[in-house]
Amino acid sequence: MLKSVKETLIIVIVLAGSVSLSLSEPRGAFPPHVDGKGIISLPSAFRSTWVHLGTWVVTSTSAAGAGYEQTSPGVGFHEVYTQTASLQEYRKAGTWPDGATLVMEVRPIQWDDLPTGHVMAQGEAMKWLVMVRDGKGRFTGHPNWGKGWGWALFKPQDPTKNLSKDFKTDCLGCHDAAGDTALVFVEGLAVIRK
Ligand code: HEC
Repeated sequence: MLKSVKETLIIVIVLAGSVSLSLSEPRGAFPPHVDGKGIISLPSAFRSTWVHLGTWVVTSTSAAGAGYEQTSPGVGFHEVYTQTASLQEYRKAGTWPDGATLVMEVRPIQWDDLPTGHVMAQGEAMKWLVMVRDGKGRFTGHPNWGKGWGWALFKPQDPTKNLSKDFKTDCLGCHDAAGDTALVFVEGLAVIRK
């Protein structure tokens, strides 16, 4: 008798476990570089397995003309990558699908004189900026999630630690200017154009 009570209990516990699993999001639905609490890590192998969307090159001199020298905080090559499936979806629908991730790798400019001319080459990566598309408002109240994206900044000293404290103060001040294109600046992303 006692044994059958125990067996029934085990069955109930196993069933309850599977119900709660099926209520939560299926595994693999959201990218592996975001954990259940909304903590973003730098995606691994994006350089070798994702697509390269384009390059921005930020020089230190302002375009405003002579006498208006301005040193930009982001000087360097800005290389942008996304998952292949996200690019395909974007080209079809014109919008970034849930889970689409943009990684921008920033590298310093190194100048050299080669037979082709005065050339720029890339130095070692200095930082990575990451945006993860969230079409479901998953992490309400989290300081690095909002306006349809998760936001992160990593540096080589510790590529596992998101240095963005709050996307509203650390990212949105600039990205609001790209409000017409879902907060993504698109001119430099030549590959997203069909
Ligand atoms: C000083 C203004 C500024 C701040 C602050 C800023 N960004 Fe950007 N970001 C830009 C601009 C402008 C571009 C495109 C041109 C470039 O890279 O210079 C860009 C590009 C990007 C890209 C590549 C996709 C795109 O829009 O072309 C990502 C990803 C990105 N930023 C993430 C972030 C995150 C995450 C933060 C906060 C931690 C952040 N940015 C803070 C101005 C800014």
